[in-house]
Formats: sequence, C-alpha cells, structure tokens
Amino acid sequence: MSDVEQLVAAASAEFAGIDDAAQLEQVKARYLGKSGSLTELLKGLGKLPPEERKARGAAINSAKERIEAALQQRREAIRAAVLQAQLHAEALDVTLPGRGMGVGGLHPVTRTLERIEELFRSIGFDVADGPEIEDDFHNFTALNTPENHPARSMHDTFYIENTPGLLLRTHTSPIQVRHMESHKPPLRVIAPGRVYRVDSDATHSPMFHQVEGLWIDEDVSFADLKGVFTDFLRRFFEKPELRTRFRPSFFPFTEPSAEIDMSCVFCDEGGVNRGCRVCGHTGWLEIAGSGMVHPNVLRHVGIDSEKYIGFAFGMGPDRLTMLRYGVSDLRLFFDGDLRFLSQFK
Ligand code: DAH
Repeated sequence: MSDVEQLVAAASAEFAGIDDAAQLEQVKARYLGKSGSLTELLKGLGKLPPEERKARGAAINSAKERIEAALQQRREAIRAAVLQAQLHAEALDVTLPGRGMGVGGLHPVTRTLERIEELFRSIGFDVADGPEIEDDFHNFTALNTPENHPARSMHDTFYIENTPGLLLRTHTSPIQVRHMESHKPPLRVIAPGRVYRVDSDATHSPMFHQVEGLWIDEDVSFADLKGVFTDFLRRFFEKPELRTRFRPSFFPFTEPSAEIDMSCVFCDEGGVNRGCRVCGHTGWLEIAGSGMVHPNVLRHVGIDSEKYIGFAFGMGPDRLTMLRYGVSDLRLFFDGDLRFLSQFK
C-alpha cells in the first residue's frame, strides 16, 4: 500500500474509534490541518520531477477527498448517536397511568367559619376583623380587665419580645372594642379569628379560633341573647329541638355573665338527655361565654352607657367543628395531615 493509501486507512480507522464530536475535530487537524500529514505530503510535491508530479498530486487529492468524506460520515454518526441518547433520556411513556391532580378542599374549620358567617349575616350581622398581634389596651384594659386583675392569669399568653404592651390576642373580644371605636351604635357584628394561649392537649391548642358576637342598641336584652344564640345553634346543627341553658358565670367585660351550654348533639333526642362520653354523661356541652356588655367597656370606647346596652358572646368554632363532624382530637385540625383533611372535601 502506498504511503498515501496508508494515510487514508489510518485516518478512517482513527475516526471510526471516536465517539466525541470535539475529540473528532482535534484528530481531524492532525490529518487535514495546516501542519497535518496530508498537507505535508502536498508540500513534498514540489520536490518531485515534473513527470511524477501529476499522478502524485491526483493521488493526494483523492486521498484528501476520501479523508474528508470519512470525517463527515463520522460527524453525522456522532450527531445521530447524541440525538438518539437524548430522545431516549427524554422519552415519554404514554402508556403509563397519569399522576392525576389532587382536588383541593376547604379546611373543616374554615367551612364552619363560613357557615357561622352566613347564618349571622342572614339576621343582619356584619363581619369584622382585627389584628392577631394586639396591644394590652384592646386585649385587656378596654375590656374592663386592668393590670393585676386576676382574670388576666386565665389568659396566659405569648408576649412579643422587646416590645412591651404587645401580645398575641388571647380572645376575639378586642375586635368588639375596635369595632365600637370605629362604628356608632346601633351595631350588630360577629368577629371570627385566630387566638392564642399557652395551652396544649387533645382539646386545647396554643392557636385556636373564636367567633365573637356583639349587638348594641337602645333596647337589647338578655332575652335577645338567648333567642339569637339558641336559634343560631339550632340552624348550625340542623336540630330544631336543640336546647340551651345559661349558667351564671363571670367575665370582666359583661354583667351579668353566663356560660352557654347546649343539649348534647349526640345523645339528646326529643328533650331526653341520655348521656354519652362526649358530654361526660351530663347531656350538656359547654359552647360559649356571654353576657350583657359591661358599662365600663362602653365607656372605654365613648358610647353612652345610659342610652345604649347590648349583649356579647364568644364561642369556639373548633369545638363546633369537632361536634359537627364527630372529631375527638382537636390537634388533627392543625397537624396538616392530608389523610385527615381530605375527608372533608
Ligand atoms: N373572651 C372570652 C374568652 O375568651 C369569651 C367571651 C365571654 C366573649 C363572654 C364574650 C363574652 O364576648 O361576652 O374566654
């Protein structure tokens, strides 16, 4: 084999062993580049006697063409292989079952809050909102609970560090105060929201919800409180025969004050309390605090307590949700476990 033919064979063999496009271009330079083997052969032409030059030149040119062809072929083969690998890597198996999209749903407590709002709106109540980081004045003082008042210790809470006088609100009652500061009576309002206390077990969570209610006018009575609240519970639980009882109690911001119990939604039927585990075999469930707004509270917000009077209540929608759906552990609502939450979709 002539040296020229040997060169063609060597180049073809070498190209065939390369899988990488960049490496192929580097090897190409060794044959076809400025100081490549083929160029060297061409340079040698001048030294040949004229009668040999023509044949030699033709042989070199033919070799060059074949080396270039081999190179081009290899380039295309590499490009095709790269494309194949990419197609393989990105392959979509259309025969696989789809992953599907989870259907979202409202949190059970949110459902309860919406239901409460709807029921109270239907009898003319507005819905108000307030800050979760409250100041001492709205959370306690304006609610007739001055510093050192023993009722404050029942509301042990989270204070904001390095900012005296700020705390996470312990109840929704400060929204009463804020609403009365910014609105003139007559007013009818409920205020749902998150509240915080240092408490944690199966029926207490450091964060929970309350709904506050307030009706201030010239002639609102305790009978109105009884009627409004009993009617609300009957509609909420869809139990027209549900009964309530008002037990004397104490809250600094109401006078008189009452604890509201309702007949047990699980074991009370047709006015007969049979008693069950949920109600501790008493037939009654504690559901809210309430009372006639204390004149001092009205005074704090500049409402004439000789002219206006009203009732207020505060209830726990988390508990209402537990009772409505038969859930026994409050923590389930706030753990974020989808196996639990997706049952309410
Ligand atoms: N704020 C009270 C609490 O968290 C609940 C309450 C009781 C609210 C009586 C009221 C009320 O508006 O009149 O314990």
